[in-house]
Amino acid sequence: MKIVIPGGTGQVGAILDRALTAQGHEVVVLTRSPRGARQVHWDGATLGDWARQIDGSDVVINLAGRSVSCRYTPENLDVMMRSRVDSARVVGEAIAKAVRPPRVWMQMSTATIYAHRFDAANDEDGGVLGGGEDGVPGYWSYSVRIARNWEAAQERAVTPHTRKVALRSALVLSPDRGGVFDVLSWLARLGLGGPVAGGRQYVSWIHDRDFVRAVCFLIDRDDLAGAVNLAAPGALPQREFMRALRSAWRMPVGLPATRSMAEVGAFVLRSDTELLLKSRRVAPGRLCAAGFTFDLPQWRDAVGDLALRRRRGGRPAR
Ligand SMILES: NC(=O)c1ccc[n+]([C@@H]2O[C@H](COP(=O)([O-])OP(=O)(O)OC[C@H]3O[C@@H](n4cnc5c(N)ncnc54)[C@H](OP(=O)(O)O)[C@@H]3O)[C@@H](O)[C@H]2O)c1
Repeated sequence: MKIVIPGGTGQVGAILDRALTAQGHEVVVLTRSPRGARQVHWDGATLGDWARQIDGSDVVINLAGRSVSCRYTPENLDVMMRSRVDSARVVGEAIAKAVRPPRVWMQMSTATIYAHRFDAANDEDGGVLGGGEDGVPGYWSYSVRIARNWEAAQERAVTPHTRKVALRSALVLSPDRGGVFDVLSWLARLGLGGPVAGGRQYVSWIHDRDFVRAVCFLIDRDDLAGAVNLAAPGALPQREFMRALRSAWRMPVGLPATRSMAEVGAFVLRSDTELLLKSRRVAPGRLCAAGFTFDLPQWRDAVGDLALRRRRGGRPAR
């Protein structure tokens, strides 16, 4: 197949590019800074020559969006929103104009769309969308709004010959250098991987191998459209998540951090505490109902595999 990945130069793009190329597919990445023959320039907002890559392709997987690991200043929030909504809109325009449109358009979304909750997991049918929770900082609702507008941009596109899937993905964990797992491992190995603000908040995650398998499953399954959760069934509280990570690195201690210590840490790392404190409890309802089985459904096994591969080197995340 010819698979076009707008925004495919980042962490998730590297995982997909590597795996899909190894499977023998032709992968083309759309980026604002092309390097090499398989990367094509686009600006993520307006139609251009790049749209010819989409015409005649089989699959489009749009990952573009400004990184969310930043301080949530009004400027950054605005770019986070626009880079997602504009890129989804313009990908939809390119597909609508294509003489030979792709069979499927996967649009990245996020598990952050769901409410901050502890009591039960959010699946696609019974799950609660976020934005109206009590007792959480008001600005958290902005991330939910980004996710909703992102999905709405895909829904609005008129692409009658192209199936649309929104990937509500949890943290995608791979051993690549500079990726999320690498950063968490580094903290754990420094003895800083303890519970944050009590550690009750759930962490949803998906192992890189299962992420690729789920994307391939969704490419093949013509009966599946709309929002699909990409998260292992084994979401768990942050304190247990970090305990297993420490144990994979044989680190006996993990200093706990209070909410205000997390604020200082996030400030130093130029990030935001929402990424640490929001309880993301997500279940892969539609994938499981469709018969998908996870190779690594539980964190203890997944973290063992990731740490082993990381010890063997890991590749750069981007
Ligand atoms: N990583 C995860 O665990 C995870 C989980 C759930 C959802 N997601 C979402 O999945 C997508 C990919 O994740 P990732 O970790 O691979 O992100 P990433 O490493 O930050 O890469 C995102 C890509 O988006 C492009 N981009 C950045 N700012 C842009 C802008 N203003 N306009 C157009 N394109 C822009 C960049 O490509 P160029 O600079 O080459 O143009 C970059 O390679 C993101 O939208 C992210 O929010 C990620």
